[in-house]
Amino acid sequence: MNPRVALNDGNSIPQVGLGVWQTPPDETERAVTAALQSGYRHIDTAAAYQNEVETGRALASAGVPRDEVFLVTKLWNGDQGYDATLGAFEASLDRLGVDYLDLYLIHWPVPAKNAYVDTFKAFAHLRDQGRIRSIGVSNFEPEHLKILIDSTGIVPAVNQIELHPLLPQRELREVHTQLGIATEAWSPLGQGSLLADPVITEIAAAHGKTPAQVLIRWHIQLGNIVIPKSVNPERIASNFDVFDFELSEQDIASIASLENGTRLGPDPRTFNFTG
Ligand code: A2P
Repeated sequence: MNPRVALNDGNSIPQVGLGVWQTPPDETERAVTAALQSGYRHIDTAAAYQNEVETGRALASAGVPRDEVFLVTKLWNGDQGYDATLGAFEASLDRLGVDYLDLYLIHWPVPAKNAYVDTFKAFAHLRDQGRIRSIGVSNFEPEHLKILIDSTGIVPAVNQIELHPLLPQRELREVHTQLGIATEAWSPLGQGSLLADPVITEIAAAHGKTPAQVLIRWHIQLGNIVIPKSVNPERIASNFDVFDFELSEQDIASIASLENGTRLGPDPRTFNFTG
């Protein structure tokens, strides 16, 4: 059974979801359909991924009631600001073909733009109107979280960050725990780069599981919300078959040895791209 992670607003999110970053639009409908058929009830997309239409098509045709699927999308950097956010939100909803979101995230803080506080105020307005169930952020560092909370009085429900054994984000996870923010991991498999690592393959062999399953299980046991990406229906199904085994403390300690600080994506403190 896919556990649910409690959020600070009273809602809860299925811990394992399908991520569709880098899933080409023409493969997205098939991937999301495969995920829903395998039992996933949490799909994570973004306006910037340019596959919201195809994600929505899969949701519409899968025969799973809307209220059983936890749907997440993200506001793109160029749309930050109060009024622009309201427009971008409607456009995402139109593309997805739904009338509410379970979770809307500010994709990046974009410090140079200095608009994430106004953006989050628009999120709060949409939440108060019942158009979004939970509001959160992505790629926020502690200083961005502090400004956001001090300025709005609202603690985001989720911060979705790059997180994998090379970059386990111990400091940020501690900050989240203190503030009551759920940690969500993007690139949870290190974009596939960790799948051949001998530490991971050895643990996988010992448990009779795949390297991807070991990595997803590591996230689950850390308490992370986790959204592995795959376009392949068999891999999508096997990435969800992670609820019947447990990593030992020794396994977790071995995986901790992989930490080297490698970031696969941009540094949120300097990523100001709005194109
Ligand atoms: P593919 O989409 O062809 O399955 P992350 O979620 O960290 O970004 O990692 C995604 C990468 O890992 C993609 O290249 C994806 O390839 C690959 N991947 C996902 N699940 C598996 C799996 N179970 N076995 C092998 N590769 C996987």
